[in-house]
Amino acid sequence: MPAVPDIRIHSDSQAAAAAAEFVLEVGQEAVRAKGRFLIALSGGTTPENLYRTLSSPSFADRFDWSQAIFFFSDERCVPPNDPRSNYALADKTLFAPLNITPSQVYRMAGESSDPQAAASEYERQLRLVTKTVPSAQPALDLILLGLGEDGHTASLFPGASILRDQRHMIAATQSPKDPPNRLTMTLAAINRASVILFLATGTSKAGIVRAILHPKTEAERQLPAALVRPEEGRLIWFLDRAAAADLPIQ
Ligand code: 6PG
Repeated sequence: MPAVPDIRIHSDSQAAAAAAEFVLEVGQEAVRAKGRFLIALSGGTTPENLYRTLSSPSFADRFDWSQAIFFFSDERCVPPNDPRSNYALADKTLFAPLNITPSQVYRMAGESSDPQAAASEYERQLRLVTKTVPSAQPALDLILLGLGEDGHTASLFPGASILRDQRHMIAATQSPKDPPNRLTMTLAAINRASVILFLATGTSKAGIVRAILHPKTEAERQLPAALVRPEEGRLIWFLDRAAAADLPIQ
């Protein structure tokens, strides 16, 4: 049975802090159980707020970040020093302030002239680190996701053929938003995570949050973020009041 979303609504300024607390809890639990914390990051302004919160003085020292290994749920096909790169964002807001070493970070090669090859190479690295054989799907401890106003998450956009791809863990795809070429985890990889955390804030997300969490039509049920339903893991949505405004119960 896919997980039922656990929805947590916080006052507008507190959603990122609540999500950051939760990240630390999941990280501590993973380290207790397995001695390391495998986490995947996303891009966008909402994830950026979460990274800035995690690396702020009130959070930074509360976790031994040397135990974390970072992956990405998606990347824009640009060089790693391009301001649009998800790696560049994470490096500036999380890795540099927390003194994360390069050996702890697995970035997708957005600069590659062959995105399909870059996707296969990233899948190889993911399998190697998680010790997952080709017939199984790698399971991360935590995947952080943002939500687009069209219902996309990671770089899984509405109607994309890769939404049905159960064979690849990482795929090259196109985005209607700039930059147009992307690398992304597929649903096959995302839905294997132990914990999936969505963070969505602000009035502009209220309509799509309602569509994903309380779909009224089949089209809404098929939106990429609505297809994020971990088979065995937990699915947690952190919302602020503005983003939760159209939900039926608050
Ligand atoms: C990206 C993403 C994407 C993002 C959402 C939310 O690389 O663009 O990973 O899925 O997280 O679009 O972005 P905002 O918080 O900027 O709306």
